[in-house]
Amino acid sequence: MELPYPHPMAGVPIAVLISGRGSNLGRLLEMEPESAYRVVVVIADRDAPGFEWAEKHDVPTRIVRWSDHANRESFTASICDEIEAFACELVVLAGFMRILAPVAIERFPDRIVNVHPSLLPDFPGAHPVEDALEAGVDETGVTVHVVVEDVDAGPILAQRSVPILPGDTVALLHERIQEQEHDLYPQVVDALAAGRLHRIGEE
Ligand code: GAR
Repeated sequence: MELPYPHPMAGVPIAVLISGRGSNLGRLLEMEPESAYRVVVVIADRDAPGFEWAEKHDVPTRIVRWSDHANRESFTASICDEIEAFACELVVLAGFMRILAPVAIERFPDRIVNVHPSLLPDFPGAHPVEDALEAGVDETGVTVHVVVEDVDAGPILAQRSVPILPGDTVALLHERIQEQEHDLYPQVVDALAAGRLHRIGEE
């Protein structure tokens, strides 16, 4: 049987889902040679600028458009079909700005992870950097967590804190948060792929 990715023994096959510029995808690809995972497909819900990273690294891309689907279930099922077609063992959300229907969690239980730019459970949702600034807290950060049905509520795998400095703007603060994301996310995905970080439900 011909497999859809080139070196199946070279690492745990993962799918990365993006919507935007894909800087986390870029870092995952950069760190891949020294990691236990292989990005075998990049999936977006739109023509994401981050596809450039996939093209640079010769990784296949797929677009599953929200507007081509009648509802969240059918959109999610199409994404899951693509993930399955590439035999992915882990699903890595990296700035993917759509909420997946529960069917994704049923099909890939404890196998979907997300990076979120706050110290969850503080500031879940779509504007965590703005919300932290507006709240006037001293620090915020990055959380890597397992995706469950409730948004931004899954078991936490790793966190890094980032201080909020006088004069911070959303752009400045998000830039410092992203520096931490770029360091942390590939390490967590590597540890999951290598079996060093136990996924929920495993002994
Ligand atoms: C990242 O900062 C990520 O934490 C955030 O989107 C950005 C994507 O950046 N994700 C969320 O807010 C999810 N709720 P990137 O496209 O450059 O990787």
